[in-house]
This record gives sequence, C-alpha cells and structure tokens, in this order.
Amino acid sequence: MKGIVLAGGTGSRLFPSARSISKHLFPVYDKPMFYYPISVLMMAGIREILLITNPESLPLMRQAIGTGSSLGIEIQYAVQPEPKGIAEALLIGREHIRGSRSALILGDNIFHGEGFEGLLSEAVSSDSGCTLFGCKVGDPRQYAVAGFGERGRFETLVEKPAAPQSDYAVTGLYFYDRDVVEIAENIAPSERGELEITDVNRVYLDKGRAELVTMGNEITWLDLGTEESLLEGSRYVSATARGAGVRVACLEEIALRMGFIGPEECYRLGEEMRNSPYGVYVMEAARRAAGVWQGAGV
Ligand code: DAU
Repeated sequence: MKGIVLAGGTGSRLFPSARSISKHLFPVYDKPMFYYPISVLMMAGIREILLITNPESLPLMRQAIGTGSSLGIEIQYAVQPEPKGIAEALLIGREHIRGSRSALILGDNIFHGEGFEGLLSEAVSSDSGCTLFGCKVGDPRQYAVAGFGERGRFETLVEKPAAPQSDYAVTGLYFYDRDVVEIAENIAPSERGELEITDVNRVYLDKGRAELVTMGNEITWLDLGTEESLLEGSRYVSATARGAGVRVACLEEIALRMGFIGPEECYRLGEEMRNSPYGVYVMEAARRAAGVWQGAGV
C-alpha cells in the first residue's frame, strides 16, 4: 500500500502566522505539524510516502525529514502549485499510487489513542473500495458529514452541510482501492472551484463500496485548521507527554516499533537531538527496546 500526505494550501485561516511559512511546518508542541500525518501512515505499515506541498514549503520539508531513509521509509515530494482541492492529490500522486491500494491523509490532521492502530490495520486489510473514519464533533457543519439510514447504515455524505444529518464528521484520512485515480480523473470541480474529496468518496458510496469506521471517545482526532485547534493540538500532545509519558507521533519510536529500524539506529537518531527532551525520549525508547535501561550504548 502507498501513502500520500497532502500539506499544501494557503493556510489563510491562520494568517498572519501562515503568510510566510506553511502551517504544516508550525510546531505542534514538540514537532512540525506534518509529522503527525506521516506517523499515521507509518502506523498503518506504509513505507512509501508522497508528500505534496506548495512550492515554497517543499525545500523546508525536505530539510526537516529528507528522504526518510533514516526512519526506514521512503519519502518522495511533489508540488501542488495552487490549492485546487484535496482530490487533486490523487491526480498529482497518480504515478505514485497507480496499481496499488493507497491511503491519503491531510497534513493538518492528528489521530491518537487506544485502539487506533487496530483500526488502521483493519482498514489496510479491508476489501472495501474506500474506508473513511467518522468522529463525533460539536459542530459538524465545518466538515464532510456522514448520514445514516436504517440500522445505522452509512448512506449519505455531504461536504460542509448547513443542516447536518448527524454529528459524525468524516476525518481527513482515506483508504482507497486501485480505482481511485480513475474516479478522481472523472470528477468535476465544485462550485468553489475545487476537486472535492467528498465527491470521490460519494462515487464509492453510491456503488455501495464505501465503509465508514466510527471512532469512539478513546481516539482523539484534531483538525488543526484554526488558531484554537492549533493550540488545542499542542496542549493535547503536551498533556499526553506529561501525563502518560508518551510522545504522540514520535516517528523514530514508531519506526522502531514497526520494525523499520533497529534500536541502534533509533538511538543514533535520538543522540543527534540529545539537547532536546524529544531526543532524550527517543534514546530512552531505543534503550528500552534493546533491553538496556542504563549505561552507555544501546
Ligand atoms: O479535516 C477533515 C475535513 O478536511 C473533511 O471533513 C472535509 O471533507 C475536507 O474537505 C477537509 O475540510 P477542510 O475545510 O478542513 O479543508 P481545508 O481546505 O482546510 O484543507 C485541509 C488540509 O488539506 C490542509 O492541511 C490543507 C490541505 N489542502 C487543502 C486543499 C483544498 C491542500 O494541501 N491543498 C488543497 O487544495
């Protein structure tokens, strides 16, 4: 399975902060925002990732994470010159995902919590045409919203409805079968001039080939599109680090857990950042994995 992270756009809802630097490079507590969606793909076992961003951000992202080889993954880069819609990611990334199943995740989405990795492995092995993730939210009007028929059957999907049919927002994580490029090639821009991901998903829904996985309270989902949610994201990551002692989306630790790298490599990555609490955490994760709690070396 191949992965795509879409981290372009103008970030205008976060101006002036996002005027000169993409919001996806903003720190969310201890790491840049775009690390969070990369962590989700890695937790799904996906090692070939295409990172799509705007022309100005590409060199900065490359500087931040490079080819991904030190994490045992392969990151390629592509440009979305203008924000023409989320579904355009499937066209920009068509060569990357052609002939494979794929996962697309938005660059400003954070997912974390008990059982989330289990949901990811189910989505990876599912034979649905597309798998979407639903989350109960206070104001569903800002999102794509799922509607349900008899016996809770997933029946409708509307982008930012004025009168939502349920409280379930469709999050920015999508798993697709091999047909998705052809479907994306055949949708037309919406009234606001964007290729809407909801239109792609609706094609699957209309064919009876879309599955919605509803996430419970044990899973936190945050869309960091506003100044308040950006702050909430940092607070959540900080509280989890201080409370449970776990760093959300620690790419080095995930790479170690997934078997993409070994403890020695993980330790070395931590050591490069040893002046930061994050670096020390990575070194400790490596030591734990190697079964050595104290002393030098791994
Ligand atoms: O977060 C979930 C929601 O994301 C979904 O429920 C909606 O169906 C979906 O349309 C999207 O809504 P948003 O209003 O949050 O989309 P936004 O324009 O803020 O963009 C979301 C992310 O995708 C953000 O990281 C920027 C990036 N993006 C967006 C567009 C339209 C791009 O990189 N290029 C684009 O052309």
